[in-house]
Amino acid sequence: MSLNAVKGTHDIYAEEAKCYQYIKNVFQAVAELYGYMPIETPILEHTEVFCRSTGEGSDVVRKEMYTFLDKGERSLTLRPEITAGVARAIVENKMLFNFDSPLKLYYVGPAFRYERPQLGRYRQFIQAGVENIGVDNAYADAETIALAMRVLNYLGFKGLKVKVNTLGDKASRDAYREALKKYFEPLLPNMCDDCKSRYELNPLRILDCKVKEDQELVKNAPKSKDFLSEEAEDRFYKTLSILSDEGIDYEIDDTLVRGLDYYGHIVFEVSGEEYGALLGGGHYDNMLHNFGAKAEVDSGVGFAFGIERIYSLMKDKGLFDNIDKGLDIYVMPLSEDLIEHGYILSEQLRGLGYSVESPYKAAKLGSLFKKANRRKAKVALIFGEDEINNGKIQVKILDREEQIEADLSTLDHTLNDIFNAIDSDDGCCCGDECEGDDCCCGHHHDHEEGHGEHCCGHHHDHEEGHEGHCCCGHHHKDDGDN
Ligand code: HAM
Repeated sequence: MSLNAVKGTHDIYAEEAKCYQYIKNVFQAVAELYGYMPIETPILEHTEVFCRSTGEGSDVVRKEMYTFLDKGERSLTLRPEITAGVARAIVENKMLFNFDSPLKLYYVGPAFRYERPQLGRYRQFIQAGVENIGVDNAYADAETIALAMRVLNYLGFKGLKVKVNTLGDKASRDAYREALKKYFEPLLPNMCDDCKSRYELNPLRILDCKVKEDQELVKNAPKSKDFLSEEAEDRFYKTLSILSDEGIDYEIDDTLVRGLDYYGHIVFEVSGEEYGALLGGGHYDNMLHNFGAKAEVDSGVGFAFGIERIYSLMKDKGLFDNIDKGLDIYVMPLSEDLIEHGYILSEQLRGLGYSVESPYKAAKLGSLFKKANRRKAKVALIFGEDEINNGKIQVKILDREEQIEADLSTLDHTLNDIFNAIDSDDGCCCGDECEGDDCCCGHHHDHEEGHGEHCCGHHHDHEEGHEGHCCCGHHHKDDGDN
């Protein structure tokens, strides 16, 4: 018996947890820019949910699911992906009747696949994704890709490319499937066992085979583009022209089929030379029908990415270097009797929107400064009996080694002035006076693109009084209003 974390799972804490939170915040803010609503579905679903939609032809369903019988002999599965559960939830909760169509939903949550654990691949991982359901339109496909690119751009990734392919409509796919069967039939005896099953269940999956010898055979296989109906072809090129007009860099990859069975029409992956694949998704039809619904438009489009992979790439590239802005204030009472003063003062300052820590027990000043340093605190508030008796407090701006004595009664104004000065020195997201491209929410943004283009995806319009915590999870302050 082991008491360690289960193989392929991992604990996320401290700095790493902050970085995960940052990725989620940026993703959520961008999804909301595009009008998406959050959805949370159960991690446990009936196994049938995935067999019907994710697909029995996919490796994920055939080999990688955590499936078990519960005490009531029901076959349950820890979700290997989230799209299928979202579709089930839409039908079960009659969402298409209760909300306007299309339904634009985003999610972040754990998924489970019994895969060989390796760098960036886990058995429990966190997926963030969107589904735009009840729509069958090239603009929806293009918008979904644009959303994905915006998330990655705001996270700081550069030089990204979208690989796209089309699997066409049902007629195109049926014709293509037949052509693939014809092509692979004589080659099958020399192919891997997985490909032999894929041949029976869904020959398109053979194109995904990772075995080197099989990949050679895949190179000469028929291409989906040669089996497209005119309508499906027009639809694909319409999406591509929207992407071109928007300046999104794409490349057609006619071996791209993606690993799940539900895709039709466009499929895509975003990658970069320095990074490999970052995210994938595509269009699907008849998803709601799998759960017994007759929807007027039973189509959708979406994507998902694994937060672990995005995190490890961002860490390697130093893309988190600016996000931890640290604590605003470290409160330093100089004796045990002043701990309560420290506690009350900290609570008052938190009420003003500052992030504050104070010790629960008296400690030496040297040790408090060390802690404040580790927490990257900007200001220390130091006080002994004399200061308190005289209504005073020492305010030390830590990175400038500057110290002033302030009146406790007007401390809020003093801090306001100090933090405004720190913010303008730092180069704030409020834009005009900013030097360089460091936004206060910890990331790069292009000032020329204006205030609507911040990394966290929201307007930081100070005149409108956007105060306190920014959607990117960091604290920033408006002029004169902390
Ligand atoms: P997927 O490509 O199977 O698509 O997974 C999406 C993302 O989840 C991958 O790009 C990868 O980053 C991450 N991922 C998958 N397996 C693992 C793993 N074992 N460890 C860490 N990360 C992993 C889907 O799941 C579709 N539901 C995407 C979608 C949404 N298509 C349409 N709507």
